Amino acid sequence: MAISSAWLFFFLCSLFLSHGVLELEASHHFDPNLQVSSTTPPEYQPHRTSYHFQPPKNWINDPNGPMVYKGIYHLMYQYNPEGTAWGNIVWAHSTSTDLVNWTPHDPIIYPSQPSDINGCWSGSTTIMPSGTPVILYTGINPKQEQVQNLAMPKNLSDPYLTEWVKSPKNPVMSPSPENHINASSFRDPSTAWLGPDGTWRVVIGSKTDRRGLAILYSSKDFVTWILSQHPLHSVEGNGMWECPDFFPVSIDSNRGVDTSTLGPKVKHVLKVSLDDTKYEYYTIGTYDLDKDIYVPNIGSVESDLGLRYDYGKFYASKTFFDSLKNRRILWGWLNESSIPDDDRKKGWAGVQAIPRTLWLDKSGKQLVQWPITEIEMLRGQQVNLPQQVLKGGLALEVSGVTAAQADVVISFKASDLEKAEVLDPSWTNPQVLCKQKSASVKGSLGPFGLLVLASKGLQEFTAVFYRIFKGQNKYVVLMCSDQSRSSLNDSTDKANYGAFLDVDPVHEELSLRSLIDHSIVESFGGGGKSVIAARVYPTLAIDGQAQLQVFNNGTENVQITSMSAWSMKKALIN
Ligand code: FRU
Repeated sequence: MAISSAWLFFFLCSLFLSHGVLELEASHHFDPNLQVSSTTPPEYQPHRTSYHFQPPKNWINDPNGPMVYKGIYHLMYQYNPEGTAWGNIVWAHSTSTDLVNWTPHDPIIYPSQPSDINGCWSGSTTIMPSGTPVILYTGINPKQEQVQNLAMPKNLSDPYLTEWVKSPKNPVMSPSPENHINASSFRDPSTAWLGPDGTWRVVIGSKTDRRGLAILYSSKDFVTWILSQHPLHSVEGNGMWECPDFFPVSIDSNRGVDTSTLGPKVKHVLKVSLDDTKYEYYTIGTYDLDKDIYVPNIGSVESDLGLRYDYGKFYASKTFFDSLKNRRILWGWLNESSIPDDDRKKGWAGVQAIPRTLWLDKSGKQLVQWPITEIEMLRGQQVNLPQQVLKGGLALEVSGVTAAQADVVISFKASDLEKAEVLDPSWTNPQVLCKQKSASVKGSLGPFGLLVLASKGLQEFTAVFYRIFKGQNKYVVLMCSDQSRSSLNDSTDKANYGAFLDVDPVHEELSLRSLIDHSIVESFGGGGKSVIAARVYPTLAIDGQAQLQVFNNGTENVQITSMSAWSMKKALIN
């Protein structure tokens, strides 16, 4: 452990300065009209979530510094205490014993020093070998520059870690004319990792011109950081890299490993959030410790057309190693798809996705994600459908479940695969393909899947479905989440999302799981090989009026091999 006791003493003696806040613009839009203290949100809230994390009111964005400490899970997140749009950013804080039910605490990091007086932006926690957590986060200084700051708990015997002290050495990393770091593009420190040489390393998101950068720093004591000669990795044309996350995954097990794990039994993952498009992508590759560089596997696509955790609305994500259960858990922010004025009326904006366990697929080619098993504790009334053939053109209603707040798991088997539509070789972008071939466009093998948050007369529904195509030498499965009919409210964004799913329909069933939570549809295809989260705002298909259906709008029959749906109970959240 490298933090000296003298430094700790300094730390504990340091006093918090004033809580004054200035506003400034990040990559998020700053709207001065939405910064006024929000009034009490309306009582009837058809779009508030029941088991996805959100605070009682106001704006949230990125998950920050998730961790487990003394058996307690901590989630911090970017929060505006004043309004329903981005601004006045502090680190809000909640804790949980099960990652499902959450207790709120006061914000732990808020502007109080010159090095963060204009905002406390995203960052990460690192657990020292002694078990002490420390936080690195981005602060905005009086010159509106982005700098990196260090904070640590005031009282290590408090498992709730409600008070943190900032280092008197802050900022511990700064842009300067000598180091050529762009002062307005230097943010979001990752969790640090410790090399066998006793040196810590951390990456910070940045860019030079159009080149996305994971700037690398190293330190012996976690306080004095030295800029490396070269970034850990960079990609021309990506633009700004926000929230880089760099971590190892086991090559032969689903179990997670600590961020400092190295060796032949792991591969490394680098995830970046692209400020330009608000999509993320990741690559799998090798960390070369001698050169201190990350080398993505040959053939990796280094743009948001490559591998993504989520092909829908999911951004600024971050993983942490859960040492209680030896798993790596992913958190991600689900932004609204509504206009700011609707957010102002409902009094809140932004939710967090259900935490997902994440591991390397057996193929080694991609990651797999699955909602943490704890979420199943909310499953109540269960409804099953018997195995059956679902004829082309038919839909079945699933009754007996609270369809606006449900967990649905279904598997399909298609037999007449030779009847699949031929995949045009130019159809390489799944999102574009899902837009062209929405749920209402009849095909042969598909579209088949779920109609969720559907109104009785189907004026509103969100369709999550598959289509099977005949590719050049294999069948290709397309997974879509079609929001085009999700709401009669014309002002919401109704984008269609899509992903190809690496499942062979000749030998495997096509499984689909959707977590439905009033304004969220989070869908896991093929056991978590492709995931799509969507935000929707039905006006008719709300609460008891919402329906769930299984549909097949292809000409060919498909078999439903199993289907269970559960009404979900409300979690205790904040
Ligand atoms: C990502 C982001 C981060 C930044 C934070 C500010 O959504 O723009 O890069 O630190 O949000 O709230």
